[in-house]
Amino acid sequence: MKRLYLLLPVLLAVACGPKKKEQVTGMITDSAMVVSAHPLASKVGADIMRRGGNAVDAAIATQFALAVVYPVAGNIGGGGFMVARFKDGTVDALDYREKAPAAAHPDMYLAETGVAIPELSARGHLSAGVPGTVAGLVEAHQKYGKLPWKDLVQPAIDLALNGFTLTEKEARGLNSAADDFRKYNTVLPEHLLRDEWREGDSIFHKDLGHALERIRDEGRAGFYEGVTADHIVAEMQRGKGIITKEDLKNYAAVWRKPLIDYYKEYKIISMPPPSSGGVALIQLLKTVGDYPVNNWGHNKTKTVHLMVEAERRAYADRAFYLGDPDFVNVPVSKLVSDQYLDERMGNFNPNKATPSTEVNHGQLAGYESEQTTHLSVVDAEGNAVSVTTTLNDGYGSHVVVAGSGFILNDEMDDFSVKPGVPNMYGAIGGEANKILPNKRMLSSMTPTIVEKDGNLFMVVGTPGGTTIITSVFQTILNVVEHGMTMQEAVSAKRFHSQWMPDFVFNEKGAFTEKDSLELVNMGHTFRFRRGIGRVDAILVLPDGKLEGGADPRGDDAAAGF
Ligand code: GLY
Repeated sequence: MKRLYLLLPVLLAVACGPKKKEQVTGMITDSAMVVSAHPLASKVGADIMRRGGNAVDAAIATQFALAVVYPVAGNIGGGGFMVARFKDGTVDALDYREKAPAAAHPDMYLAETGVAIPELSARGHLSAGVPGTVAGLVEAHQKYGKLPWKDLVQPAIDLALNGFTLTEKEARGLNSAADDFRKYNTVLPEHLLRDEWREGDSIFHKDLGHALERIRDEGRAGFYEGVTADHIVAEMQRGKGIITKEDLKNYAAVWRKPLIDYYKEYKIISMPPPSSGGVALIQLLKTVGDYPVNNWGHNKTKTVHLMVEAERRAYADRAFYLGDPDFVNVPVSKLVSDQYLDERMGNFNPNKATPSTEVNHGQLAGYESEQTTHLSVVDAEGNAVSVTTTLNDGYGSHVVVAGSGFILNDEMDDFSVKPGVPNMYGAIGGEANKILPNKRMLSSMTPTIVEKDGNLFMVVGTPGGTTIITSVFQTILNVVEHGMTMQEAVSAKRFHSQWMPDFVFNEKGAFTEKDSLELVNMGHTFRFRRGIGRVDAILVLPDGKLEGGADPRGDDAAAGF
C-alpha cells in the first residue's frame, strides 16, 4: 500500500505522457502585442497601442484593467516589477514591490512561545505590506509614457463601473474565496454580492471604479493621500492592521539597474533584488549551458536531473543570500559568476540525486499562491515591457478596503517570518530576508526580456510564487534548446524543485513512464502539482512578426495587430 502511495505521483506523471504533435503556434501579429491573464485586459492594452500609446502605456493600462477583471492577482493593492527594453536597446527596471510598514518587526508573526503563526502573515490586515502598484505605474508613466495618464486609467474605470462578464475560472475563484472574504472583512465587499457566482454573470466594482477615478484625476495622491488613504487606514484600524498614513505617503517606487547576463548567444535582461528571480534564473541558465540539453531532449531523464540539481543549489543560495538590497548586501555578481557556478556543481553526480540536506548555500568570501500575474508587451516600434505584479496569494490578504473596493496584498508572508520556518510556498529564508520596518520582502518574480544578436527576441514571465523562476527557466529552454514555438513552450508540462522541501513537483503528463522511473531510481521524489505557473510571453519571429504564448492553464489571451 505504502509503495503504491509512493508511486502514485509517478503514475500520475505518466498518465498523459507527451505525444508527438504538429507544431502549434499562438496568435501571430505584425507588430504589436499584449499577452496577459485576461482577454479584456489584453484588449485594453492593445487598444492603447492602436491609439498611439507605447509599450509602457499599454502595460500600465493593462495592469489597471487586470485590477478590475482579474482580482485574484491583478491589483492596485499589491506591488510588482517592470523590466523594459526600448527600441534603441536601452533597458530599465522599476521596483514597486510592497514594503513592510514602519511598525513592522521581526517577531510580529510569532506567538509568545516563539512559534510562528502562519495565518497572521498570510491572511487579514496584518499580512498586508504597503502597496506599491500605483506609485510604480505613475513613476513609469512619468518617465516613459506617451499618452495622457487619464487615458490609461479610464478603460479600467469603464470596466469597473459598467461591469463585465465573469469567466468560469474567475467565478470559481470568487466562490472558493468567499469564506475567507467573509472571515476577514467587517464590511461586505462587492465580491460577495452573490452567494454563488456563475460563468456569464455580470459583475460590477463600483467602489473600485471610484477609487480608480481618484487615481485618474489625482495620480499618486489619489491613492496614497485623501479619500483612498483614509479608507485604507480606517480598514487597518478595524482589522488591527498597522499601515499608517505616513507609510502610504512615504512609499516610493525605485528604478533599479536590470540584471544582465548571457546564456550562450542570448542576452538575459531580468529583475535584480529585491527579486530573487533574475539572479536565480541566470544561475540556472548558466549552469545548464555547459551541457547538451538539446540533445538530451525536453523533460528527458538527463535534462530533468541536471535542471533539478541546478535548482537545488540556486534555491539554497536564494534562501541564504537574497533580500532587499537597500537593507542587506546581496552578492549578485559573485552568485552569477562562472567560477562560482562551476564550484557549485562540483559535487554534481550525473547518475544520482543529491539529497537537499547535503546541499547548503555556496561559500562566498567577503561577499558584497502562488497568485501573481504577468503581462508581456511589445509595441509597433519594438519597445518591450515585461511586468509581473502580485497580491501574493490568490486574492491576497482577502481584505477588501471598504469604500475603495480593492483587495490588499498578503505580501508580508514573503518575508522570512522566522529562520527555517517555510512560507506558504514552502520556501525557507534566513537573516537576509527577515522583517524590518520599511524593508521590501524577497520576491521570486522574474519579468524577463531576452535579446539575440542585439535584437529583441522574447518577453516572458509568470506568476507562481517560488515556481516563477523555474517556469521562466523552462520556457526559455523550451524555445532556445528544444525548438518549440512560443505557444508550445508556454503550454508544455512543467516541473519544479526548490531545494527544500526536497521534492520534484510535476504537472500530470510532464514525463514519460520510462523517464519518471529512471528519475525515481536516481533518488528523486515526485509530488504531483496542478498547474505550475501561467506564463505569458511574446517571441519575435525571424520575419519580425510576433508570436504570443498565452498560458492555457488560465484565461490568458494575446491581443494585438
Ligand atoms: N508573491 C510572490 C513573489 O513575489 O514572489
